[in-house]
Amino acid sequence: MTTETYRPRRSVLYIPASNDKALAKIATLACDAVIIDLEDAVAPADKSSAREKLAGIFAKRPVANHDGRRCEMIVRVNALASEWGTDDLLAMAKCEPDGILLPKVDTPRDILEVGDVLDDNFAPDAVKLWAMIETPKAMLNIGAIAELGRDLASRLTCFVAGTNDLIKETGVLVTPDRRYLVPWLMQMLLAARAGGLDMLDGVSNDFRDLDAFARECAEAAAMGFDGKTLIHPAQIEAANRAFAPAPEAVAEARAVKDAFALAENAGKGVLALNGKMVERLHLTQAEKLLAKAAAIGA
Ligand code: COA
Ligand code: MG
Repeated sequence: MTTETYRPRRSVLYIPASNDKALAKIATLACDAVIIDLEDAVAPADKSSAREKLAGIFAKRPVANHDGRRCEMIVRVNALASEWGTDDLLAMAKCEPDGILLPKVDTPRDILEVGDVLDDNFAPDAVKLWAMIETPKAMLNIGAIAELGRDLASRLTCFVAGTNDLIKETGVLVTPDRRYLVPWLMQMLLAARAGGLDMLDGVSNDFRDLDAFARECAEAAAMGFDGKTLIHPAQIEAANRAFAPAPEAVAEARAVKDAFALAENAGKGVLALNGKMVERLHLTQAEKLLAKAAAIGA
């Protein structure tokens, strides 16, 4: 995440590609991005018809969602190794979504192979790759997968925690505070940062319990996540709030920026501000936070 290219991904809503009613709502939603799903949310019998529909949706993609910003449009395809994977990718090379989310990524090779298919089919460089981190193998290979983020040609820009699959594959017990999942989530976060990638938290299945959802968002924001993947429009508002910089943090960032801008501090590497040490690294951090606040109008 650099200040120049910052784009908010606080709230990223899955929409099954087979659900026309939900798809028709995209332009009215306040989420930062949508992930139109061809994978787990679409039954095998509906895969082809769901895929064919996407050409029409991308031909008239919404220019802006309701607060005037364009909603990023991502498509989750089926794994390349599945019977639908290649057809999904060929269709995406034509649709040109902002990103393609790859499920069941185990190794860096899984991403490189998809990149080759996109390159061979002339998908523009602007079509990025996002990776689901949802298998034990991905957890063991996480550093090598994330490293691809340092190579622009790989297209990789974002990790998405696939907590439901990770729970299924490992048998880990789910508690309200996710205490047994948190070590893996933090490992994903660390790897994502090492590779310069954005990192999104997994979904909360209980979409009627918005208090529990808000708590989970607050915890994910505290862990350093950029945003959360969502399953229901009712979850958008809380995610937008939780992953936006707090007003106090914005005020503090402004104070740091102003302090370093003073003529008397021009050559200084370290200052005292309200009884606390601030260094130039804090200035960089403050500038990032202010750019983020500006991008979301906070
Ligand atoms: N995106 C956009 N709109 C959605 C939506 C979504 N993910 N989920 C629900 N809606 C809409 C419904 O179309 C409905 O619209 P209406 O009022 O015009 O009829 C409204 O929100 C209320 O829906 P509700 O009745 O509360 O939910 P539901 O019982 O119809 O659906 C789910 C519940 C979980 C099946 C549905 O939210 C869903 O499919 N979520 C995404 C699942 C998914 O993609 N999973 C894969 C990744 S984990
Ligand atoms: Mg999954």
